[in-house]
Amino acid sequence: MAHVQYDCSQGSHLNTINSSASPMGAEQIQLLLHMCKEAKKSAYCPYSNFPVGAALLTGDGKFFSACPVVGDFGVLLCLCQICFFTSAGCNVENASSPLTVCAERTAIQKAVSEGNMNFRAMAIASNSEEDFIVPCGACRQVMREFGRDWVIYMTKPDGTYIIRTLEELLPLSFGPENLKKF
Ligand code: THU
Repeated sequence: MAHVQYDCSQGSHLNTINSSASPMGAEQIQLLLHMCKEAKKSAYCPYSNFPVGAALLTGDGKFFSACPVVGDFGVLLCLCQICFFTSAGCNVENASSPLTVCAERTAIQKAVSEGNMNFRAMAIASNSEEDFIVPCGACRQVMREFGRDWVIYMTKPDGTYIIRTLEELLPLSFGPENLKKF
């Protein structure tokens, strides 16, 4: 799958939409919600048949997701000076089940590996009609590594969602600050 980065500052964008300069404007939230649903389509989950998608918004407006979003948008969406990044990935299962990786961690590891650690929001999608998809404990700990005050959008296929901060999802957590005391 394609791994594509668009950089507005280098002038290669194809489409522009209007937006406030807010780092978390309504358009960004809608796009994040759309991206996580698209990401779900790439899931490799032959054992659980439980596809999950995650999309991550970095502090500088870059998106990391678990899907080939470029094919859906087909264009760069440039919000003022905010640039978007998409990259292929999804939850990836393995016949040796402990090696399965959740969609959330796929998105985070891709972002970090590209030098982006300032996260603002993640949206998660599954096919579960009755329940909002919530991150597992392992994913919460990995998310928490990168702060406690960013937010997670936990969705249903009907478009509804609930939002929680990392602090709410993982209270009294252990993180990098604890190790800096030594
Ligand atoms: N899964 C995720 O990717 N994220 C979650 O938030 C919950 C679970 C995946 C892991 C596995 O591939 C499948 O869902 C069933 O647990």
